[in-house]
Amino acid sequence: MFLKNAWYVAARSEEVNRGLLKRTMLKEDIVLYRTEAGLPVALENACPHRKLPLSMGCLKGDAVECGYHGLMFDPSGKCVAAPTQERIPPSARVKSYPAEERYGLVWVWMGDPAQADASSIYQVENYGKAGWGRTDGGVLDIKCHYLYITDNLLDPSHVAWVHKTSFFAPGTEGTPLETDLYEDGLVVSRWIYNQTPPDFYAPLLKFKGNCDRLQHYEVRTPSIAVNKSIFTPPGGGGDVNNLPEQSYVMVSYNFMTPVDENHTRYYWFQHRNTDPDDEALSARIHTGAVMAFNEDRVVLEAVHRGMAEKTTDNFNLGLDAGALRFRMLLDKMIDAECSAASPAPARRA
Ligand code: FES
Ligand SMILES: [Fe+2]
Repeated sequence: MFLKNAWYVAARSEEVNRGLLKRTMLKEDIVLYRTEAGLPVALENACPHRKLPLSMGCLKGDAVECGYHGLMFDPSGKCVAAPTQERIPPSARVKSYPAEERYGLVWVWMGDPAQADASSIYQVENYGKAGWGRTDGGVLDIKCHYLYITDNLLDPSHVAWVHKTSFFAPGTEGTPLETDLYEDGLVVSRWIYNQTPPDFYAPLLKFKGNCDRLQHYEVRTPSIAVNKSIFTPPGGGGDVNNLPEQSYVMVSYNFMTPVDENHTRYYWFQHRNTDPDDEALSARIHTGAVMAFNEDRVVLEAVHRGMAEKTTDNFNLGLDAGALRFRMLLDKMIDAECSAASPAPARRA
């Protein structure tokens, strides 16, 4: 059900400190903390003696001490003290997950540790680059399967109905969509030409009147969505590599971490190509984004319930093509991972 050999966001950096933070990811219970040197650590959150969550214990230096009988585990998961025993029991060990920090987020590799490669963490273009403003996002807990969120983030059409007072503008209902496929995901996009800008963006643009608008909806495995909006004066749109000077670019980065089949933790932040130091503007954009995400949340939680409890058939529309393709790609990767993890049974002689 989940792709394991992948990096997922486990927490915002400021949530991970010298306390013990418990998290559930992909149905696995994890405890997060920092070493004295400040490095993030992720361990299985269950003591191998009686399965007391290690998050109920305490930190002693870089090791976690279980709150029941004092077994201690270092960041590699190895038991380093067993105060009631003469020697450390050989099976006393917890799983240790590779953990890294990027973009103000702590990322955890959920699969085979030997395959973890920090360079494969999603690369955020323009992060920390001069001239780019940042809306320091946040995190939402959404009561739905994570793939309903990736569906939504590959579906520019929903804007016309779900975000009527923010992102809707003429052209969002019917302009045809283009799909570009990649090895690890896809992009659904369209340029909408010479229309009024949406209410949310109009005050942010450096020009007045109509605009050309790009809606770029991109999802990469395992569940990373990049939502790019570009606005140019009419006649300036059509080529992202050749934008006129007054163009406004907003990129929303969305990292979905499945908690289980029914819950998702959704981390996000945004970049814009204007007013890098305008904190009041960042705060305004933040408020608008949260309002829009909550509009999505209401729909997605109801869709999750509706699909889970359906008593009649449902069907797909043309607008679902991108979402369905992403689901197929992910299914294939999960199947390949499962077959690699369970070798074929040995033949009898
Ligand atoms: S339950 Fe952890 S040491 Fe006993
Ligand atoms: Fe939305």
